[in-house]
Amino acid sequence: PFETRLTRHLLDWYDRHHRDLPWRVTPTAHRQGLRANPYHVWLSEVMLQQTTVQAVKPYFRKFLERWPDVSDLASAPVEDVMAAWAGLGYYARARNLKKCAEAVASLHGGVFPDTEDGLRALPGIGDYTAAAVAAIAFNRPAAVMDGNVERVISRLYAIDAPLPGSKPVMKARVRALTPVERPGDFAQGMMDLGATICTPKRPSCVLCPFRDDCLALGRDDPERFPVKAAK
Ligand code: ADE
Repeated sequence: PFETRLTRHLLDWYDRHHRDLPWRVTPTAHRQGLRANPYHVWLSEVMLQQTTVQAVKPYFRKFLERWPDVSDLASAPVEDVMAAWAGLGYYARARNLKKCAEAVASLHGGVFPDTEDGLRALPGIGDYTAAAVAAIAFNRPAAVMDGNVERVISRLYAIDAPLPGSKPVMKARVRALTPVERPGDFAQGMMDLGATICTPKRPSCVLCPFRDDCLALGRDDPERFPVKAAK
């Protein structure tokens, strides 16, 4: 069906153009059975929520050097964690990071739950982080949606309804595209596509794996999407 073809185009593009990021396992290594470390995936996703990939990289390295495991982070003084976070902004994230690490250590013996629901039950983990960690670290077919994915999906399907009301419709579209075989690569491919090709301004549509199917491109107006509710 249509969705299978779109999914395949995205995964083929990700195989060729994925960004090499320190928390990632490459598609090749992934196929050979190497799995992403849930602690690394969780830490990176929390850091990336309001911060760019380039800004996150040195902090991600620093945290892992200092607290190699979630149990190390759980037993660290909160002031040390806050100090190490300094510069990343949105400090509630650092406080929640510490609380979540404590919960994983005390309630789960230092092992992250491996389902979307189990992850969402942890302090400081919302829908986005639960879905991202479930898909990337545990290969669960969770529908992962952030701002980049919203832009890609709203263009691909020319969703005229404005955000935030259109989110459930978009999520259903993401769910329909997410493959059971490679949900983590699919989610990260959508993020990379949104970050590098399907950009807010002047997207590089000639390079896009969805160019033959994108309804916004068909209308010659990708920048119109996502439509946002008038303020
Ligand atoms: N932004 C948020 N999570 C990301 C990820 N896993 N890869 C790239 N960009 C991201």
